[in-house]
Order: sequence, then C-alpha cells, then structure tokens
Amino acid sequence: MVVSWYSVALLAATALGASIGPSDKQIVEKSFCGKVWITIHSPTLRLIGKSDIVDAIELNWDFSTCATIPTQIGLFMNKPTSWDNGLIVYPVETLEGYHITHVSLGEESLVGWDYGAGLRGPQCLWPYVAAGDHNNIQVINCLKIQPTWMEDNGDKINKLRIGELAVPGTHNAGAWRFDTEISTVSRDLFVLCQDRSIWAQLVYGIRYFDFRIAYYDFYPNVEDRYWLNHNLIRVRPLVPLLREIKSFLDSTKEVVFLDAHHFPVGFYEHDGAPIRSVHAGLLELVQRELGSHLALATQFSTGAGTRGPTIQSLVDADKRLVFSYVDNSVVAENSWLWPILPQLWANTNSPTKLLEYLDNAISTSPQPSARSPMFSAMAQTTPNVLDILLLRGSLRHNADAVNRNVTTRLRTLWRQRSNIVASDFFLANDVIDLSIEISVERSTRL
Ligand SMILES: *[C@@H]1O[C@H](CO)[C@@H](O)[C@H](O)[C@H]1NC(C)=O
Repeated sequence: MVVSWYSVALLAATALGASIGPSDKQIVEKSFCGKVWITIHSPTLRLIGKSDIVDAIELNWDFSTCATIPTQIGLFMNKPTSWDNGLIVYPVETLEGYHITHVSLGEESLVGWDYGAGLRGPQCLWPYVAAGDHNNIQVINCLKIQPTWMEDNGDKINKLRIGELAVPGTHNAGAWRFDTEISTVSRDLFVLCQDRSIWAQLVYGIRYFDFRIAYYDFYPNVEDRYWLNHNLIRVRPLVPLLREIKSFLDSTKEVVFLDAHHFPVGFYEHDGAPIRSVHAGLLELVQRELGSHLALATQFSTGAGTRGPTIQSLVDADKRLVFSYVDNSVVAENSWLWPILPQLWANTNSPTKLLEYLDNAISTSPQPSARSPMFSAMAQTTPNVLDILLLRGSLRHNADAVNRNVTTRLRTLWRQRSNIVASDFFLANDVIDLSIEISVERSTRL
C-alpha cells in the first residue's frame, strides 16, 4: 500500500491529538491507497450543439496499488466531505484512467498569490476531486498552488545537490501570451507553449524556465530590444519577466533555474560568430534586474562531472537564481555563468518516439564528465514544417497527446534518474506534485 506523505502526516496528527504535523488547512491531499489528481485539458473542447469549453477540468486516477478499488470518482467545488456535494460523479471501471469533464476551470484566483506573496504552503484552488465507494470518500486531492514547496520541504530536500533534485520546468516558458505592438492573442496553433504567466508558473511550483531570447535593434532603448521568442516569432518583452522572477525570489526562499537556451534572432553574425555587444547587453540586464539573487558559478560550481551545490548552500548564502547560458564561448568570458545545460530533445512529432528517446536519454544522463550539474528532459513533441504549413494539429493537441504519459513515465521509468522535466501546458500533467514527492523520496535515501 502506498501512503502519501500527507496521509502519514494526517494519521500522525490524528493519533497524537493533532499536536504535530501540518495544520488542517495545509492538508490538501489525502489518500489511503492510490491517487487522484486534477489536470486542465489543454485543447479547447468542441461539443456539438454547445459552446466551446476552454480549460476543461480533468479527473485522473491511479488505483493500481489499492487492495480494494474505489468505485466512483467525482468533481467537487469545495473540500469533499460527502458525495451529496459532488458536482459530477462517474463510475470507475479501470485501475488507471481519466475523465474530461465539461466543466471549465474559469478565471482562477491564486488564493492570495495573484499579485504578490500570500500564505506559505500548498493551497487548494477550487476544483477538488475525490474517489471512494458509495458510502465513503477514501481519497481526495485538489488543483493546488505550491508557491513555497522547496522551503516547505527544506528539512529534507536541502541536502540534495541541484543535479539530484527533481525539478518541474516549462519549455519555452515565456511564450504564454503575445504582448507585442500588434497582438495580445492568448491561444494559437503553433507558437504559444504555455498559458500561465511566469509569476503564475512560479506560484504553481515550476522552478525551471527554458527561455528563447531574441534581439531587435530597431528599439531606441536597449532594454526594449530583448524579447522572448518562439523561434522567429516575437512573443513578449524580456525585462518584465525578469522582474516577475525577481519579485518571487524577493518574497520567498525558493531556488529558480533560468536557462537562456536559444538565441533565434540578433545574437549571431551570419557566419555564426556571437555578437559580443548583444550578449553583453543581455548579461547586463540580467545582472541589473536579478543580480542580488544570482548564484555565481565562480562561487558555487563544484566542477565537471559533479551534481553541483546543495540547495542548503544556495539558501544559506541567499543566492537562489542559477542562470545557465547556452553559448560556451560567452560562458568562457563570463565565468559567473553556469555552462550549457543539456536539453534532452527528441526533435520528433511522434509521441512514441519522444517517449522512447527520453527513456533512453534519461537513463544515460548525466554524462560522466558533464560540465553542467543539471539536465532537462524536454517532454514535448516538435511539429515539423509540414505540420505547420498544413495546420496539422496544434501545440495544445500535441501536449494533450503526451502529458498523461509524461506523468506516468515520471512516476515510473524516469523516477530514479530524472532531473528537470520541462513540458508544455504544465497544468495538463502532474509533474509538479510528482517532482516534489520524488525530491523528498531521494533526500530520504541520502
Ligand atoms: C500513452 O498512454 C496511454 C494510456 O496509458 C497509452 O494507451 C498510449 O499507448 C501511450 N502512448 C505512448 C506513445 O506510449
């Protein structure tokens, strides 16, 4: 029987008269076997004769470890206490599975964390899920924010080195809504990979950002020239995103990993030589906006082939931003930068090939002499030119075709060796909660 950490805490609290363990408010998940969880459907649901539903709520379950299998699962508005309060209840007929409800999440409130720091600890947003038999509710969970999960679990995970941690990340993190002179579009087919702001991603629990930065010299102000792109397409200006990361670091004790991983426009000459002044301008902006939080590689690096500093050492020094840079010639001249962080990228539009590639790549990572202490599994498919020309599918459909499998893989095959797992539309998988669970599990094995 698998019992989650929360249920152990709950049992302990009950047995000892609630004198220890988290307060009732912090118990956001409870399980005596198996697990239920909420995800958000990434494609728009189109139903015949009805209006479209965005952000449809999905109910997921895995009862493969249960001696007696729950017979029903339901969606709840508030903490589930009785089936009478269920909004919808479905029978459960398989050990593992999911239901896509026709209920939209709606405008979510980040419960006190919308514009700044709120209470510490995991907190539920409105959709709750519960499962059990006709009489009893046996397992509950909710869509939750995890704004301070590293601090909450610090007594355990602070012992881990950054390369030993399981880190939830986002691919192309800045491509979440257009903010250009001509567009504020928030849903499209092939450019936007996310739909929550950088601040909201942090509040949900994302700690690794894959950034694609471009430079456009037609803006008079230098700081306006740096943009977050998806390949050749400009999405949002960079500086406001750096400020969101800064205000998060200012108001928490969390560690954030920022990866400048691709420079699609303006950083290189035609012959491939880096344009020094453009790279230098970016580094100046990062130092200006985030300098007080930067963990300098010169100070914290532990050398090639090692797993890097412990979380504890970063927290103690209050240097909690690890900034990796993809160009080693620039790193060579700016030794405070962390060297290129290997991204395990399958470059395929096939879900089967993506998963096979990642199974193999994660099992053989990190390379024995890797310069970076970290590596990132890029858990999304990549459309090819024809897919885009023929408008075959969309990034939202592609994410839908792999995100459930990514959850399953991280729970099983990738569990022992993964480091960062970076996905598209992260609310459609369970990578955040699983990464926290796996990090805690790894720390108890040290
Ligand atoms: C993803 O998971 C589903 C359900 O477990 C399975 O049927 C499907 O084959 C998996 N897809 C791939 C590409 O492995």
